[in-house]
Amino acid sequence: MSDIFDRLKKDHDTHRDMLEQLGDTSGDSDTRKTLFEKFRIEVSAHAAAEEETLYAVMLQDPELREEGQHSVSEHKEIDDFLEELQDTDMSSPGWLATFKKMRHRYEHHIDEEEQDIFPVAEKQLEKGVPDALKDKFEDRKPAEIERAKEGERNEALD
Ligand SMILES: [Fe+2]
Ligand SMILES: [Fe+2]
Repeated sequence: MSDIFDRLKKDHDTHRDMLEQLGDTSGDSDTRKTLFEKFRIEVSAHAAAEEETLYAVMLQDPELREEGQHSVSEHKEIDDFLEELQDTDMSSPGWLATFKKMRHRYEHHIDEEEQDIFPVAEKQLEKGVPDALKDKFEDRKPAEIERAKEGERNEALD
């Protein structure tokens, strides 16, 4: 049985693959459009469910609060990049430039979670908590996927 840390790392590996694939797309192609939308929904849902589980617990622990706040502020930064990408014409050179910046920041974020944040949390959290958080994450993520999908529909109506 895996705990929250293994579960989150599994998602991160999926995100790394998706970024790699997106990096190989060009212009206003259907592949880029489809892959980007998939990535946006997946990463938004991952970050939201991560905040509702692991980071919710970390923010309540004085020993882990600072690390938690750091990660949550990086989520906001990534979210802003994703919004900017949604609002930029995919065939413009600006899209790729912003994508590269976002990719760099996001890869840094998940590397840092895996190398610095998760080990500190793993040491501090009480026995049983990482397993329970994993169940909660599995529970929350599908709902967050639906919310992220809706985000697209609402914006399309603007
Ligand atoms: Fe994160
Ligand atoms: Fe993460």
